[in-house]
Amino acid sequence: MKDFTFHTPTEVLFGRRSEERIASLVRKYGGTKVLLHYGGSSAERSGLLPLIRTALAEAGIGCVELGGVVPNPRLTKVREGIDRCRAEKVDFLLAVGGGSVIDSAKAIAYGVPYAGDVWDFFDGKAKATAALPIGAVVTIPTAGSEMSNGCVITNEQGWQKRGYSSGLSRCRFAVMNPERTYTLPPYQTACGAVDILMHTMERYFSPETDMTLTDALAEALMRTVLDATPVVLAEPTDYRHRAQIMWAGSLAHNDLTGCGNVGDWATHHLEHELSALFDVAHGAGLAAVWGSWARYVRTSNPQRFVRFAVNVMGVTNDFADADRTALAGIEAMERFYRSIGMPVSIPELIGRPATAEEIDEMACKCSRGGTSTEGSFRVLAADDLRAIYRAANGE
Ligand code: NZQ
Ligand code: ZN
Repeated sequence: MKDFTFHTPTEVLFGRRSEERIASLVRKYGGTKVLLHYGGSSAERSGLLPLIRTALAEAGIGCVELGGVVPNPRLTKVREGIDRCRAEKVDFLLAVGGGSVIDSAKAIAYGVPYAGDVWDFFDGKAKATAALPIGAVVTIPTAGSEMSNGCVITNEQGWQKRGYSSGLSRCRFAVMNPERTYTLPPYQTACGAVDILMHTMERYFSPETDMTLTDALAEALMRTVLDATPVVLAEPTDYRHRAQIMWAGSLAHNDLTGCGNVGDWATHHLEHELSALFDVAHGAGLAAVWGSWARYVRTSNPQRFVRFAVNVMGVTNDFADADRTALAGIEAMERFYRSIGMPVSIPELIGRPATAEEIDEMACKCSRGGTSTEGSFRVLAADDLRAIYRAANGE
């Protein structure tokens, strides 16, 4: 069992009408002038942004706006946000949206007090020592950025997608009203389910397996998402199931399901190269490679995959053949992905097979030019990563 620190300082306001408290939360955490940061049109259309503008104005809190964050948020927008915050003397970032908007806000928060270029953090050249405070109003449960210490940004130059983690960017508060997720298109709901499951699996498929309490929490979380997702796809305004998915999204990535374990994260990093190169949705990219990763690494600890198959996927244990049970669990998860409209291969993800050059590029970037490895359940070098991409490509 690995020693751990569990620090989850985000104040969560969960439930109907929780948005009504946004202005008082901004005040509570010291905001006097806010950058209201958001994506495309969904939050405007739903009436959420108008509501927030009015609440901030009524509370006498200054507000400047920066919308237009795209999925797989871009460095250019981050730099624009940094300039805007400095020019307008913004002291609080309010992110309204999902992982992309919250991550863009986190990068801006690091960049404002930093004298150099914000990409230095993502490039491993600098460590953040300060960040502006952030609050999140979550409209899509998936990335878990509202409670995580992670932040993932895409640099358009070279299409590099890189993460940076620091407790400094943990949101001061997260406002979560499950009703705000009713408008999600089915594809985004499904992508969210995959990402929530994957954040749990990245911690569950660990070389450390002593922490049975952590395992039980992870298994319950995964079963909840497996049960609730088809319900909300059929009935988008089902509050009870929307709420459980939303809360699962935060718990899957606030480290609760990883206490005592060593995370793997290879599937995430394989995926980040897919979304960097093909600009696909993160959840869909994860679904497209996970099965190939799982088949490739399963023999490192077959019993872990057996436990997953039986306790999460409801597979009957074939005690005579652990590998058969393990494979049945992997196939059951792929069946689930298909059933919610997610791809389970690269051709299904991008509409064609990746070329050999594209696979080489992704394996090379993922292993930092062959200088680093990925994963802990099984440590993967560039050749292993290439083999997993090829398997996912149907080769
Ligand atoms: O831009 P708008 O119009 O708002 O539309 C968004 C966007 O197109 C739409 N949407 C959001 N809420 C909606 C809605 N549409 C209708 N009704 C609503 N209530 O959903 C689309 C996707 O939004 P996005 O924020 O991109 O999704 P997600 O939360 O999945 O974030 C993905 C990003 O997070 C990163 C991913 O790599 C990706 O860049 N991740 C961040 C992590 C972290 N910070 O800890 C961890 C994750 O593993 C992940 O890597
Ligand atoms: Zn993720």
